[in-house]
Amino acid sequence: MALAKGTIEEITTRAARYPSKQSAIIPALWAVQHEQGYVTKDAMGEIAQILALPPSLIEATASFYSMFLTRPEGRHDVVICVNAPCMLRGADEMTAYLGQQLGVRDGQTTKDGAITWHSTIECLGACGGAPMMQVDHHFEENLTPERIDAIIQRLRRGVAPGEGAAGPEHASDRIKPSRSGGEGPSASATEPLRRKSPKRAN
Ligand code: FES
Repeated sequence: MALAKGTIEEITTRAARYPSKQSAIIPALWAVQHEQGYVTKDAMGEIAQILALPPSLIEATASFYSMFLTRPEGRHDVVICVNAPCMLRGADEMTAYLGQQLGVRDGQTTKDGAITWHSTIECLGACGGAPMMQVDHHFEENLTPERIDAIIQRLRRGVAPGEGAAGPEHASDRIKPSRSGGEGPSASATEPLRRKSPKRAN
């Protein structure tokens, strides 16, 4: 699917703000994901053309950052943290429970297309509320089976993240952790998540 005119304009406008076109890769990927829901290889090729950069550079950036989707996923994105602090507070049990309740394995999407979930060994930055998970970029903390049930029900009812939350929730403006950690391509050009603004709630 060719990029919409508005998306191309946005990429061009963004690119003009930076001294290096490479710095516009991440904003360009966001623009495409906002328009199409995910970033196909064809779309990466279009970005490369607009920015006059090698397609491999766009693909390397898109594959490095976990916030960029390269295939259709569920309407809701659930990431459960299994790093040490969360693990010490029961993340493994919560992960097993989540998978069981959703009926699909780590990395898969529920049959109704509502939820895609996966676990991450990267700390999501909310250890104080461990065990926790990130739902559409909002934090859901102090997980219990009951809280997970409530969250799943809420998502299936179509309630937006942060509304009618099952309990404590918090998040911060930041990039989701990379799949491999450390700085990746165009790391200097990162920008805060804009698709859904994280917030901290009581
Ligand atoms: S270890 Fe899970 S949020 Fe930090």
